[in-house]
Amino acid sequence: MTIKNARFLISSPDVNRCPVPEKPEFAFIGRSNVGKSSLINMLCNSKNLAKTSATPGKTQMINHFIINDLWYLVDLPGYGFVKSSKTKREQFGKIISDYVLKRENLYCLFVLIDSRHDPLKIDLSFMEMLGNEGVPFAIVFTKTDKLGKEKLNIQIETYKKSLLENWEELPPIFVTSAEKKVGKEEIAAFIADILKK
Ligand code: GTP
Ligand code: MG
Repeated sequence: MTIKNARFLISSPDVNRCPVPEKPEFAFIGRSNVGKSSLINMLCNSKNLAKTSATPGKTQMINHFIINDLWYLVDLPGYGFVKSSKTKREQFGKIISDYVLKRENLYCLFVLIDSRHDPLKIDLSFMEMLGNEGVPFAIVFTKTDKLGKEKLNIQIETYKKSLLENWEELPPIFVTSAEKKVGKEEIAAFIADILKK
């Protein structure tokens, strides 16, 4: 699948105010600053379709984009944004959990993980929740340009091992760099495959 056309549609404060769920939807989530907006821009061949920022917490709404007039792509707020107040954190938690649990047209949630970090409890428990609730998801390692090849392989293997402590099977895994445009074709092909079914 080639993304020929990507347009911003709407920012919604919660799942109840999202567009009517009439099209297949793919969403991107992860800790604040993990590179969600950058990855979306890479996929859509755009520099600033999704707003990126060096300051964590830039994306605070559920942002819908429409791709090829066929499916929705969603940029979600980051979870675990340490600098926001506790109330805000809880509020984001609720926006996100409501969205992932209630959005009926969600075909796959891409959970982004910074490839430089060792497995973090917040990410592992988030994925555990997805598994328990039957939400289909895939893992996307981001910012891989910041690591050498060898270190990157170690990081990914460590991550897989840690997942296999709780899971019998691994989810689909993508290795990406928005900086170096790595992983774009693989994710596009994965989405195309799901859309065909
Ligand atoms: P929030 O919306 O604030 O939660 O952040 P986000 O997850 O959308 O992250 P964003 O795409 O805004 O990127 C955060 C920072 O990481 C920015 O300074 C990006 O330039 C940088 N960044 C994102 N992806 C990559 C990458 O693949 N490589 C490198 N080197 N930097 C990246
Ligand atoms: Mg963002």
